[in-house]
Amino acid sequence: MPPLFHLPLKLIAGLALAMAALVGPSQAEDTTGASSASSAYSRMVLMKGAWLFDRNCAFCHEKDGRGSVGPNLTDWYFIHGSTKDNLHEVIQNGVPEKGMPTWKSILKPTDLRLIEQYVWSIRGKDLKGKPPEGEHKPDEKAATEVAG
Ligand code: HEC
Repeated sequence: MPPLFHLPLKLIAGLALAMAALVGPSQAEDTTGASSASSAYSRMVLMKGAWLFDRNCAFCHEKDGRGSVGPNLTDWYFIHGSTKDNLHEVIQNGVPEKGMPTWKSILKPTDLRLIEQYVWSIRGKDLKGKPPEGEHKPDEKAATEVAG
């Protein structure tokens, strides 16, 4: 049996993710923007993002982001803005006075980036949970933009 088969599956998955992180989404994409390498990369990013979300965010936003203490992240409405930059800002800095932690002082930047990609990807899933809050809604173009 080749030595690779002796490695635990988790380690192999970890290595694959680390390699994907090194290659990065821009290099992995071909000119059509839809190579199998880039979609495999995206799937891995979103899986890791979902895993991290589950451990750090689900306590207040529920598993899958449908909201409980914190807002539902799967509708199209946002309190603090609907752009990628807005989401980045609110996740990094939090809203301490409302109970949303300042994540940049808790998690590594690389983990936060994966979480941000995941949060971006669940917009519009409209999971039954906390009713929509906030006035900010993305325009059609931003709504169809993929995580990246
Ligand atoms: C201790 C509870 C708590 C945890 C844990 C938490 N949040 Fe929040 N989150 C909140 C609350 C409360 C708000 C609403 C803030 C407000 O009303 O201004 C919020 C708001 C947000 C918003 C802005 C939503 C909008 O409508 O603008 C995003 C995005 C978000 N959280 C993502 C995350 C992510 C990602 C994590 C994990 C890394 C996380 N939250 C963990 C409580 C939490």
